[in-house]
Amino acid sequence: MSLRTRFTEAFGIDHPVVQGGMQWVGYAEMVAPVANAGGLGFLTALTQPTPEDLAKEIARTREMTDKPFGVNLTILPAITPPPYAEYRQAIIEGGITIVETAGYKPQEHVDHFKEHGIKVIHK
Ligand SMILES: Cc1cc2nc3c(=O)[nH]c(=O)nc-3n(C[C@H](O)[C@H](O)[C@H](O)COP(=O)(O)O)c2cc1C
Repeated sequence: MSLRTRFTEAFGIDHPVVQGGMQWVGYAEMVAPVANAGGLGFLTALTQPTPEDLAKEIARTREMTDKPFGVNLTILPAITPPPYAEYRQAIIEGGITIVETAGYKPQEHVDHFKEHGIKVIHK
């Protein structure tokens, strides 16, 4: 049985249940079963050491599920920030349609995702 809500309608899922990004946890093995069970799971972008690894993780997740899933991009103040623009590109080119941003000054990231028609949930 499914509980239909605005949230399930907006994201094309069966149950209004979110598995948010979790550093060192949000791998394909976590996200694909959540998606297959009808929830909304998020890979954690920065768990992947490089944007290329994130692209591979997106592809690996897609091999494990046909259902919608997203990617979390956590923005933290840092003296040497990760290459955020390249992580964004991996998300966009990976065909991801749902992003969870979290943290510090997300606007440029949110704007870039929205330009590509991606739905963004900011936390
Ligand atoms: C082990 C662990 C790691 C997490 N890492 C992140 C993270 O990297 N980025 C993020 O935005 N949220 C992170 N979170 C927060 C979760 O995505 C979620 O917002 C939080 O657990 C609250 O959800 P809940 O009320 O359903 O438990 C983490 C949570 C846990 C338990």
